[in-house]
Amino acid sequence: MPLRSVRDRGVPRDAVHHPLFARCYARFSVGAETRMGMARVRERLLAGLSGRVIEVGAGNGLNFSHYPGTVCEVVAIEPERVLRQLAVEAALRARVPVDVAPGAAEALPVKSEAFDAAVVSLVLCSVRDVPRALAELRRVLRPGGQVRFFEHGRGGGRVMTFTQRALDRTLWPPLSGGCHLSREPVAALREAGFALGPYRRVMMPENGPALPSSYCALGTAWRPS
Ligand SMILES: C[S@@+](CC[C@H](N)C(=O)[O-])C[C@H]1O[C@@H](n2cnc3c(N)ncnc32)[C@H](O)[C@@H]1O
Repeated sequence: MPLRSVRDRGVPRDAVHHPLFARCYARFSVGAETRMGMARVRERLLAGLSGRVIEVGAGNGLNFSHYPGTVCEVVAIEPERVLRQLAVEAALRARVPVDVAPGAAEALPVKSEAFDAAVVSLVLCSVRDVPRALAELRRVLRPGGQVRFFEHGRGGGRVMTFTQRALDRTLWPPLSGGCHLSREPVAALREAGFALGPYRRVMMPENGPALPSSYCALGTAWRPS
């Protein structure tokens, strides 16, 4: 399906500026599709979706090829210029129409109640203001609409959670594009007024040693009708 347009809707073009991280992520993430089983996770994340979908923090567009044909349109918001350009290229290869646009999760450049579903994968760890980003997701979803999420966060025992918090206060956010390890995305969704479920805990990678970024949740949350 052709990419229809890349539009600047009056939001700052570089709400997020992490060019070095963006280049590293673009390389690493493609390998992780097979090496870490991310392609399978993306397939599960998006299975059964239909109608109009907004994907927030689309990165280099690795979800795009996994949208089922029942999705009639994806609006993919990506604030980082390098990743957004790669997302535009990925959109050209997608089998559903994908419209890539600049913007930030905290101020989505779209109308209220315009989407049947919203997708966030590995994004809530990086946004500056999680409650505001989730309030925006609620705003743009129609009543009864769903959020599909795949997010990492706090997990493991005391040593691991201590390590996650220590890394969050020091090296991790500047090295990884503003990512945080000890956030609690499921609790944040609940606090934002979404109804949870179903969702499950996933280790990523599934096998091998647990990393501070391994503790993931994959599932669905609903905007109450
Ligand atoms: C780890 S990457 C994940 C990319 C993609 N969702 C995926 O599954 O591969 C984190 C993404 O969140 C984006 N991001 C960071 N801050 C954001 C914000 N405030 N609003 C929207 N996206 C943001 C980054 O630019 C990046 O594309």
